[in-house]
Amino acid sequence: MKRLGAAIIGCGSIHGVHADAIEASELGRLICVVDIVEERARASAAKYGCRWYVDYLEAISDDEVDVVHICTPHYLHASMAIEAVRAGKHVLVEKPVAISISQAQEMVQESKKHGRYIGVCFQNRFNLEAQKAKEIIDSGKIGAVKGIKGVVTWFRTKEYYAQSGWRGRFATEGGGVLINQAIHTLDLMQWLGGGVKAVRGNVSTYLLGDVIEVEDTANAILFFKNGTRGIFYATNCYTTNSPVEIEIDCEKGRLRIYDGTLIMEQDNSCRCIVNEKVRDTPYKSYWGKSHAVLINEFYQAVLSGNPTLIISVEEAMESLKIIDGIYKSSSTGNVININ
Ligand SMILES: NC(=O)c1ccc[n+]([C@@H]2O[C@H](COP(=O)([O-])OP(=O)(O)OC[C@H]3O[C@@H](n4cnc5c(N)ncnc54)[C@H](O)[C@@H]3O)[C@@H](O)[C@H]2O)c1
Repeated sequence: MKRLGAAIIGCGSIHGVHADAIEASELGRLICVVDIVEERARASAAKYGCRWYVDYLEAISDDEVDVVHICTPHYLHASMAIEAVRAGKHVLVEKPVAISISQAQEMVQESKKHGRYIGVCFQNRFNLEAQKAKEIIDSGKIGAVKGIKGVVTWFRTKEYYAQSGWRGRFATEGGGVLINQAIHTLDLMQWLGGGVKAVRGNVSTYLLGDVIEVEDTANAILFFKNGTRGIFYATNCYTTNSPVEIEIDCEKGRLRIYDGTLIMEQDNSCRCIVNEKVRDTPYKSYWGKSHAVLINEFYQAVLSGNPTLIISVEEAMESLKIIDGIYKSSSTGNVININ
């Protein structure tokens, strides 16, 4: 089978996960990497045996490149993705899809206009425990979802923000714990619960206010289209990166996702449906282990012309709408309709 040529833009902390997944996939081949910091681009190219550039426009005009992976700071996602589809490339963009809903809408228009796919890295949807939870909910065997809880208690230091200057600022990161760390959990909650209609919430900066202008803590109630109610809490002020907790309260029982496990509680019994610890990953354990699955599915979709397994910009926009709603609610005190 033809292997798709890949370019990675941004050679920072996440890019090795993409490069390793492309190398491991039988569907892709890394053609080039790009970073405005030349040493980073050179070092990555030496490691993976590919070309390097400092200007991303050279990568997207490279004839051997079919798919562009965008692993840059958040504020660059939309403009780089749009340039890439205009140049005829398919795009896999790291989360968040963009830093505003209007940017994401423009990405949808441009990808349709140029007939190219844009997929978004919400790799946690491919975690076995999440897949299995979705399957159980959709099968109806545990009844309708009544409530869903998401809790993210992580920690980020001052050094983390100092390392990459784009973090901690609205103009470049687009927000704080909501858009960077907790967006995966918001995406899983809205995907498992059936889509959010309105939100009420609050954001605060409790601990890191001397280094960041964005929030380090947020909480919200999510009102789903189907009547489900969600509660959500996220903070970067804890002392460790605890595993994310998601609990789904259904008419006939309860599902709990925690640290690679899926537990089902029904009729006073408790069953472990999935038990997949991710501690042995070479990367940060809280990134999970599903980037490679997501990347392979994206390549499969491009090669087959069947996008069903791509997490589209429209889908990824749902978490952006929730975040935008929480900010608006926090400043007005109102319930905000988002859909
Ligand atoms: N899916 C996940 O679980 C996950 C995990 C970590 C990071 N991410 C996302 O990946 C993206 C990158 O995060 P990171 O932690 O690797 O950041 P980083 O700061 O470590 O790396 C970003 C890199 O982009 C480069 N860059 C900046 N402007 C550029 C430009 N114009 N052209 C080319 N290169 C440029 C920087 O020099 C830097 O090397 C972010 O969107 C982040 O949210 C996702």
